[in-house]
Amino acid sequence: MSEKLRSRIKDTLIVASSKDGYISPADGVELPSTKWTSKEDYQFFTEKTQEIGVMIMGRATYETIGHPLPRRLIIVLTSDSDKQSELARQKLKMDYLPNNLRFTSKSPQEVLEALANEGYEQVALCGGASLYQLFTDEDLVDEMFITIEPIEFGDGIKLFKDNKVFGNFQLVKEMPLNQQGTIVQHWVRKAD
Ligand SMILES: NC(=O)c1ccc[n+]([C@@H]2O[C@H](COP(=O)([O-])OP(=O)(O)OC[C@H]3O[C@@H](n4cnc5c(N)ncnc54)[C@H](OP(=O)(O)O)[C@@H]3O)[C@@H](O)[C@H]2O)c1
Repeated sequence: MSEKLRSRIKDTLIVASSKDGYISPADGVELPSTKWTSKEDYQFFTEKTQEIGVMIMGRATYETIGHPLPRRLIIVLTSDSDKQSELARQKLKMDYLPNNLRFTSKSPQEVLEALANEGYEQVALCGGASLYQLFTDEDLVDEMFITIEPIEFGDGIKLFKDNKVFGNFQLVKEMPLNQQGTIVQHWVRKAD
């Protein structure tokens, strides 16, 4: 991200992971993550995304949720925004898409620029793996909140292809979320 764009909009990656680094179990990729995350993480996720106000996600992640989340603008990346808008409208049984749901085929940088031009100052990048990888590869992420749940999947969808991404970030805080061992890590992008 150019320094100019970085000064206009902050990109906060939010994700829940198993202890062994999976964001979805192999047998549950079509299910929302709330099927296996703690209620405390759900609360953290809801509060954080409502505070930020805008969520960016991939089409597959949107489908696991199936509807726009209230009190947030939802931006869904897809290669065919007309088709996906129409499918979502039909699924919601509405004449028009709700005001807080948009499908776009813009590039990540263009999406952030358009949101900054509308006056948004922060976005929550909410997955899935393809978007986490894309946005970090393009150096578009400023901070990450990673919830680690005390479970192991052994197989599934990895957060990143490899752990090199973490070299660009510094762990600044680790907070317990509950008595069961769920923690949230706060990582901040290292200065250039
Ligand atoms: N644990 C967590 O916190 C968490 C959070 C989010 C998601 N997840 C999990 O992650 C899984 C989904 O991840 P995923 O990587 O398979 O899918 P995804 O990133 O949610 O969505 C992939 C889709 O996004 C669109 N897309 C990706 N890059 C694009 C680009 N550059 N331009 C335009 N469109 C683009 C494409 O849609 P089209 O095919 O329509 O072109 C692509 O098929 C699910 O199992 C979900 O539960 C977990």
